[in-house]
Amino acid sequence: MIEKLEEILNQAGKSLGYQDLHVIPSNRPELCDYQCDACFRLAKEYHQSPVVIGEKLVDAINRLEEKDFYFKEVSFVAPGFVNLTLSDAFINQTLRDMNDQDHFGLKRPDKPETFVIDYGGANIAKPLHVGHMRPAIVGESIKRIINYMGHKTISDVHFGDFGLQIGQVIYGIQQRNLKLDDLTLQDLEEIYPAMSARCKEDDEVRAICAEITKELQEGNEEYYKYYEKIKKLSSDDIKRIYKYLDVDFDLWYGEMDARSYIPKVEEILEEKGLLEDSDGAKVVHVSEENDAKEIPPLIYKKSNGAYLYGSTDMATIYQREQDFHPDYILYVTDLRQSLHFTQVFRASLKSGITDAKLEHLGFGTINGMDGKPYKTRSGHTPKLDELFKETEEIFISKKEDNKAMSTTDRKKVVNAILKFADLQNSREKDYIFDINKFSSVVGKTGPYILYTYLRIHRILKSEDKMYNLSNMVYNEEDRNLRLKLIMLERAIHSAFTERKPHYIADYLYQLSLLTNTFYQNNHILGLEDEVKKEDWLYILNLTSKILREMLDLIMISIPEFM
Ligand code: ARG
Repeated sequence: MIEKLEEILNQAGKSLGYQDLHVIPSNRPELCDYQCDACFRLAKEYHQSPVVIGEKLVDAINRLEEKDFYFKEVSFVAPGFVNLTLSDAFINQTLRDMNDQDHFGLKRPDKPETFVIDYGGANIAKPLHVGHMRPAIVGESIKRIINYMGHKTISDVHFGDFGLQIGQVIYGIQQRNLKLDDLTLQDLEEIYPAMSARCKEDDEVRAICAEITKELQEGNEEYYKYYEKIKKLSSDDIKRIYKYLDVDFDLWYGEMDARSYIPKVEEILEEKGLLEDSDGAKVVHVSEENDAKEIPPLIYKKSNGAYLYGSTDMATIYQREQDFHPDYILYVTDLRQSLHFTQVFRASLKSGITDAKLEHLGFGTINGMDGKPYKTRSGHTPKLDELFKETEEIFISKKEDNKAMSTTDRKKVVNAILKFADLQNSREKDYIFDINKFSSVVGKTGPYILYTYLRIHRILKSEDKMYNLSNMVYNEEDRNLRLKLIMLERAIHSAFTERKPHYIADYLYQLSLLTNTFYQNNHILGLEDEVKKEDWLYILNLTSKILREMLDLIMISIPEFM
């Protein structure tokens, strides 16, 4: 739609020699719908005042034959804005196009690109807590947005299963004389924190755990049996939680799966002369002249022969390049890993192991009301299961009716609360986790959006019914809602190009607000004017379809009843 407006403006500008005219949504919606701010730039190019330029441009647009089809009004406002108010006919034509086409007429690429998306990243043997929700849901949503845009995605959970925690747990099992066959998840949940604490106090224990980890990496068969058992117990539980959150992966690989590529990458680095000795360790220098702060080298191999996080990440890039030859590899992790990814990306590009574009999509922290990392009412960092339960209890306590919901519906609502709470924030921001606020049906919350959807859905018999849309717009609430529907494409585009689902969440909220205002002020079912009634059902029908498809991009499913 914006493209169409730009086409018209550029057509008018051509006779004046004005090019690259861009249109954006109005900064002042009370004055117009869209605006063009090119006058300031053109004023410099043509050594004329922006007023002269703007008036000439407006004049040229007004002289176009098709002007009246597109615009109700085009005017110049000092100091340099061209204000555009859309005609009812054009608004309705755009809505019809959206309604009749898949993906609401979104322009999709002729040649889809391949994106590997690495998210989730849970560490084997460590229980999942509230902090692990973000990489899973931010990543899953980004994947769905990219698919919606028409590109191909390959998602990989990339379990953390190569680090010291595995050695710690193996040693813990041995110390307790536990038989592998009898090992339970409960055991793991006790052993990991206990061993992690012991390693902090006791260097000797730490050295033993590090040695076990190294031998496992080198292929020690006995340790590998332990590893397999630990991985199975832990990953089954992690998968259960991802399933609850509707998060799914094409590949359930881990760092360990890249192990066989580590020597190959080492060879390439060696050949290219990129590996240097540093106190017995092998490192890759990655600092660049223009770095504001010195970027330390990536340590590929420690002096004891062990490999690290950077080595498995490089080996995994090599593996992905062999398997999929992707155009992009995206990593959704905590922002605090940005130095790590700078090192890995630079070392990978230098070594030529991939020509994919590599992006680190960082996210902020989930905090409690005190601004510190989130804790439950009883004061500990909650495991995700506990968090789901707590959220459900709070939601149920809000209203007598909520007690009667089915288990499936409750699960959907808990998901809506948690996901909307998270995805409404630009991903790099920390946010305060306030379940009470997030589970309310008023305000910028998941339940509010669901409630809006169910409310309008009740009066539509079915979304598949065909209504017709006339060329009328009836009042301001009606017009505002229609204009918001048209803005969908822009929201999806921003979400895709910036890899930020909050544009979708934000759009859903704005759309819900306008839908509710429209609905409250206009009684549809009792209308005698059949054309008007059908127009409004058409609009609500389209709104309902958009709400549902956009909710799906942020993994929120709609309950039967709320
Ligand atoms: N396991 C890592 C962590 O817990 C996240 C993995 C992210 N992906 C990657 N390829 N490094 O921090």
